[in-house]
Amino acid sequence: MNHKVAFSFADGKTLFFPVGAHEILLDAALRNGIKIPLDCREGVCGTCQGRCESGEYTQDYVDEEALSGLDLQQRKMLSCQTRVQSDATFYFDFDSSLCNAPGPVQLQGTVSAVQLVSASTAILQVQLDASLDFLPGQYARLSVPGTDSWRSYSFANRPGNQLQFLVRLLPDGVMSNYLRERCQVGDRLLMEAPLGAFYLRHVTKPLVLVAGGTGLSALLGMLDELVASGCDQPVHLYYGVRGAEDLCEAERIDQYASTLDFRYTEVLSNPSPAWPGKRGYLTEHFDLAELRDRSADMYVCGPPPMVESIQQWLADQALDGVQLYYEKFTQSNI
Ligand code: FES
Repeated sequence: MNHKVAFSFADGKTLFFPVGAHEILLDAALRNGIKIPLDCREGVCGTCQGRCESGEYTQDYVDEEALSGLDLQQRKMLSCQTRVQSDATFYFDFDSSLCNAPGPVQLQGTVSAVQLVSASTAILQVQLDASLDFLPGQYARLSVPGTDSWRSYSFANRPGNQLQFLVRLLPDGVMSNYLRERCQVGDRLLMEAPLGAFYLRHVTKPLVLVAGGTGLSALLGMLDELVASGCDQPVHLYYGVRGAEDLCEAERIDQYASTLDFRYTEVLSNPSPAWPGKRGYLTEHFDLAELRDRSADMYVCGPPPMVESIQQWLADQALDGVQLYYEKFTQSNI
């Protein structure tokens, strides 16, 4: 017996299709030409998530990094793990056009620069052989030359054929070792892109952008887009890192104030005693009055504990006017 399922999207479009009684929701959607953004298909990455608005469903496996207990209470679900037991409606917080776009493609490019920009961060620049369309906030999987490993990095600039990625440098990571020891301008790189459902929506409200570590990469891409599109809404960037030596792209961030209505707050979680600026958790320094006074769209990109603490903080403050979009990136330790 089939169930009738509706997928509705942020742009107001709704698509209907039948789902078999024991079928995985994502398989049914793909069979019907609805290309929900996906990555792992194993309930781990959270890319295929939506929210069930009506009907009964079960999920095979949900990794706690993909959806928290609070997410599950709010009926958030992973399409690649969901089976429906009744007619049902699901909401996806992105435009339907994303589902009809061609899926990720494999592309070749050439390293055009690699630059150490803080004690823990490098910027990798790649000249693609052909131009790539993506949405600011999305990411690419890069093949690490000379290995069979792949690593994911958010685009730090706008679409085109010149790409930038902020890369966290680990003491002994596959990509980190390549960038430090072997990377040469002119090296050929293979990548798969675009990936992910974290992207800048049509801007109609003030924006609060929150970056943890190299989560800044996705937000720099969004800020470049806001400059290019002539955004007239206020934008407040919060940037959290461990120590002052981990901060990067200060000049670039300063320059956004010359074209945008822009505020910037940096917070160190573990600074030296001499640090004169803000310290502690990002949530301790959020401008509550600013968020209470007006509704806002908040984009958060960082490690899972940071994203979850912000979700909890928003719930505790009952800031119903704040629409949260987030990307939890699980940093590889190798
Ligand atoms: S595609 Fe990764 S959780 Fe579904």
